[in-house]
Amino acid sequence: MHRLSPEDREIIKKILDVKGYDPDTFDPELLTTLEKNEEYRSLLYRHGGDILLDEKFTRLKEFIQHGNVTVYEHCIHVALCAIKLNRKLGIMARERELVRGALLHDYFLYDWHNADAPGNTHPKLHGFYHPGIALRNATRDFALSEREKDIIRKHMWPLTLNPPRCREAWVVCLADKYSSTLETLKLRKGKIRINYA
Ligand SMILES: [Fe+2]
Ligand SMILES: [Fe+2]
Repeated sequence: MHRLSPEDREIIKKILDVKGYDPDTFDPELLTTLEKNEEYRSLLYRHGGDILLDEKFTRLKEFIQHGNVTVYEHCIHVALCAIKLNRKLGIMARERELVRGALLHDYFLYDWHNADAPGNTHPKLHGFYHPGIALRNATRDFALSEREKDIIRKHMWPLTLNPPRCREAWVVCLADKYSSTLETLKLRKGKIRINYA
């Protein structure tokens, strides 16, 4: 088990303690920095290029996650943050499965803001149900490993009760909360500029 340094613990605390931190010290520009990082971009395409270019996956550009961030952009953010957390904290998760699971973690394929949207079967309980729906869609459209399935199924923990069963799923679970927070902060500061559409 990897020993955490005080600095690592501070990072995890910041990620988990969303309400407790100061937005000015938790810089949403990190997302832009990650998006511009050549090494991270090439990792994204090496491990998940087929997913990113898949016609069905690019439908995620049609759906908004929050504010003006599409689900497609959000999934890229989560994959980039997962790579960073994995490397920075020395977690040694398998990078390929980490990236592929992160890209597909919100592959639920409906507008969750619209209660009448096709596919939005539990509009009031989207948080609970979308991991299962995303997993069903992803299993139908892509070949998934068991770790990739666990990533998708468990990414909403602790909202969904069963905890992740592999380190890849833990990293994406953290990366999802981290990215969503940064996206929200960035929106508040009016700093979202990149458009993948
Ligand atoms: Fe999600
Ligand atoms: Fe997400």
